[in-house]
Amino acid sequence: MKQRIFDKTEVTSPPDSACATNADRRRVISIMATGLVSPIALTPGSAQAKPGAELLVDAGAEADFKPLRPADIQMAKPILAFPFDAATEKPKNESRLNKIVVIRLPEEKMTPETRARSVSGVVAYSSICTHQGCDVKTWMSKENVLACYCHASKFDLFDGAKVVAGPASSALRAIPLALDGEFLSIAAPLPPKAGE
Ligand code: FES
Repeated sequence: MKQRIFDKTEVTSPPDSACATNADRRRVISIMATGLVSPIALTPGSAQAKPGAELLVDAGAEADFKPLRPADIQMAKPILAFPFDAATEKPKNESRLNKIVVIRLPEEKMTPETRARSVSGVVAYSSICTHQGCDVKTWMSKENVLACYCHASKFDLFDGAKVVAGPASSALRAIPLALDGEFLSIAAPLPPKAGE
């Protein structure tokens, strides 16, 4: 599948180069078509330190997983993360569909709804493109959007990751954040999408 090439002088991407394989795309499309399974399995959780809290760890780590703190996330430098079960100390990395893109952005530019899901300017969304399931991880600083390299869909992370360009038909799924002690955590289970 031909990939759209962006001007590399204006983009910031995490080092993880994984993109959707054909099998991944088929799986994502199947999931979206059936509406039976959420792309991200979330434990019913809480905003503050509670047993079973889900933290976040760098998706590129292979061992020695260190939960992310807000200070680990730089302005306009997205990283890919996996949920991390604080009780078992294991990342939920069995599927790339669990990947989350985490980025710090200016809070004053966020809509109230997006700001309410953020922590110190850090926001999180599923990194799985709602078009055909590629990783969405490229920040385009001139346009202030997160872009998918596969077919150039662009998402406005200041406003719920709504689609502003390209073939994707729906926003990236928002991941509400909270602080669990000093660490970023997933604040609450996601509301079901229509049809789920
Ligand atoms: S997979 Fe097609 S735009 Fe992302």
